[in-house]
Amino acid sequence: MQAAINPIAERISSISVSSTMKVSAEADRLRGEGVDVVDFGAGEPDFPTPDNIKQAAVRALEQNFTKYTAAGGTAELKKAVCERHAQDFGTSYKPNECMITVGGKHVIFNLIQALVNPGDEVVIPVPYWVTYQDVVNYAGGKCVFVNTDEAQGFTLTAAMLEPHLTAKTRLVIINSPSNPSGAVVEREEFEKIFRLTSARGIYLMTDECYCHFLYDSERFSIAALPGAKETVLVAGSLSKTSAMTGWRIGFGLVPTPIVQAMTKLQSHSTSNPCSISQKAAVEALRGPQESVGIMLAEYRKRRDFVVARLRQIPGVLCNEPQGAFYVYPNVSVAFGKSGISNTLQFAERLLSEAHVAAVPGEAFGTDQHIRISYATSMTELARGLDRIHQFIAKNS
Ligand SMILES: Cc1ncc(COP(=O)(O)O)c(C=O)c1O
Repeated sequence: MQAAINPIAERISSISVSSTMKVSAEADRLRGEGVDVVDFGAGEPDFPTPDNIKQAAVRALEQNFTKYTAAGGTAELKKAVCERHAQDFGTSYKPNECMITVGGKHVIFNLIQALVNPGDEVVIPVPYWVTYQDVVNYAGGKCVFVNTDEAQGFTLTAAMLEPHLTAKTRLVIINSPSNPSGAVVEREEFEKIFRLTSARGIYLMTDECYCHFLYDSERFSIAALPGAKETVLVAGSLSKTSAMTGWRIGFGLVPTPIVQAMTKLQSHSTSNPCSISQKAAVEALRGPQESVGIMLAEYRKRRDFVVARLRQIPGVLCNEPQGAFYVYPNVSVAFGKSGISNTLQFAERLLSEAHVAAVPGEAFGTDQHIRISYATSMTELARGLDRIHQFIAKNS
């Protein structure tokens, strides 16, 4: 049989392997060889899924809720999503404006595939979460990046955004609090951004993955503004809020025609998200919410420790994250000597020599930073930061 000349479809070459997953794979490989690796790469809570949620899944199994559901999710879960969002943020979504997906990543994928035509521009603030860029490329769209200022904590303002809006802009993506920087777009600024986009008929996607993990400001959703529902697209996830990364439940709150378009796409790819996970998600949304506050209090302690510790390393700059569970220090003090000239090399050498896994800033669109996830124990944080300190001291 003759081998195919071009075995892989061209559109796959427009996307790259997720750098966060690459780091985890390499850390796993080293661990498999018996190396004691401290892993700051993983973007997931180290807390277990709360018991009441696990029990809801057990009940779903016992009741044989193990078959297909509607492709866009059960009516029960859509209702629970709308009610929780209304309670938390004062929005007024109805189940026909809601769609359930296989995790938050999947709602972002579906939304972008449903809305972006080849050549459409999608505006993305830098630093950005890795996936946006690849998913826009996959749809044939053009990413337009907006630089933010490290000295201002990487926070986005309407003034930074406005010059990048053109007749071709289809969508603006905001992720607040941000993965990787922990930056938060304050309410007033977010409202200005909304006014800019809605006046031009541009969609504004708000990735609310970390919206419950805010240290110093009140949580809000831009979708609660009067008139927002026409152009604001909420991408939500239970992964971090309810420590449910493996259960794969995300949701979209968007205009009904977009729900229909996304459901069409989903019905030909994954079909429904796991039926058992959907039952568990109903409990996560309707049951007690205390676990969120408990996790947040723990993350705050860790954030304070990590920032203070990083600032003890000569030459390292570190903004204080306002939300999520990542810090994004500038480690360029270690560039130039010992053959390190960018963060890819920094992260590779940090892993191979100091046995600490962190994600290089290149993955998020900046070239002087690494992302450290502090969703891990204080003991691991202390161990890993000691190693980072020694590694930088040796190489700067
Ligand atoms: C900014 C952001 N959005 C969305 C997601 C999607 O999360 P999941 O697909 O696990 O629900 C993540 C996960 O890391 C994220 O960091």
